[in-house]
Amino acid sequence: MKCGSINDYDLIQARSLLLKSQNPLLDVHFLSHGHATLKDVDESAQFYRDFLGLDVVKTSPRTLVARLGSNTVIVGVTIGEKGLAKAHRPWLENAHFGFDMVMADEVKEARELSLENRAAFKIQNVSDIVESDEGLSFMLVDQDGNYWQILENPVAGYSDHFGDTCDTGPALRGVDVDDQRTSILKPRLMSHMTCEVIDLQKSREFYEEMFGFEIVQLNPKRMLARLNSVAVIDIIETDTAVREHKMHNHMGFDMAGPEMVDAAREIIVENQDRFGFRIIHKISASHGSYGFTFSDLDENAWQIEDYPSGGYYWMFEQGGDLKNPFQPNIEGVEDWHDLLDPETYEYRNPSK
Ligand SMILES: [Fe+2]
Repeated sequence: MKCGSINDYDLIQARSLLLKSQNPLLDVHFLSHGHATLKDVDESAQFYRDFLGLDVVKTSPRTLVARLGSNTVIVGVTIGEKGLAKAHRPWLENAHFGFDMVMADEVKEARELSLENRAAFKIQNVSDIVESDEGLSFMLVDQDGNYWQILENPVAGYSDHFGDTCDTGPALRGVDVDDQRTSILKPRLMSHMTCEVIDLQKSREFYEEMFGFEIVQLNPKRMLARLNSVAVIDIIETDTAVREHKMHNHMGFDMAGPEMVDAAREIIVENQDRFGFRIIHKISASHGSYGFTFSDLDENAWQIEDYPSGGYYWMFEQGGDLKNPFQPNIEGVEDWHDLLDPETYEYRNPSK
């Protein structure tokens, strides 16, 4: 599967196109997830599924995963109202998720539908339509304070900004192209997650050298990054004063096995002073995977975890919500590792 092609715009921008670094410090293979924080997993599942039109799997009584158009997922974790109230997050709008409509009229219609269904889904706010060089967009704030952007974007999302340089096979594995959704909004694709940085060039150096992101800089204060993914990170330089409490809103990358995760943590520790990492947490079993989180020079938080090729895709292959937290619904299988091809670290569903 190819990632997209370079168009005229990108040729003009060719100087700012850098291919994936040949030797990044970490061998992370996939941008697997970003986080939303929830108060009630069932209410959020309903909003994501019935309003936004995402594929949703409840993965434990307090967590869910949701995707649209690729296997880079949103992991929703119930924090509780007290926890959310304690974490003052004025930057949350700049940690939004973006969902694409191909036509401008579809964005306008989505906004009307959002207003009509505002009370039913406890939507806190529906912004005005904003018009930029890229088209129309607006922002929703959900019952938990998470931000969701609905935007006009081409069919391939942001892939056309990049070259044919990555393998999106795992990112698209198992994604249903036969659209049977009955949701209120029907965006095509979750095209991006967003994060803000203090100094774009300084952070770019970190992203390329540490993670090996492919990066396309769009202007002096904005760049797009991807890692074998269809969904990209839209990175913007801001002067936000408060950047704390980002651990709950981290983004995550996958590695093939606990040993690799341990080795990655050592590399992060070795490079702490060089890149100005703030906190490096110990290994834990966060939302079902062996991994750890750390915060960087911008106080953005990242998770490195042990997960198969394609990340959370196997969860969507279980025929509904997970009966045992973070484990497959297949009888006699207690651990998802038992279903991996040892050579490729890919999930194989024995019933298919
Ligand atoms: Fe995570």
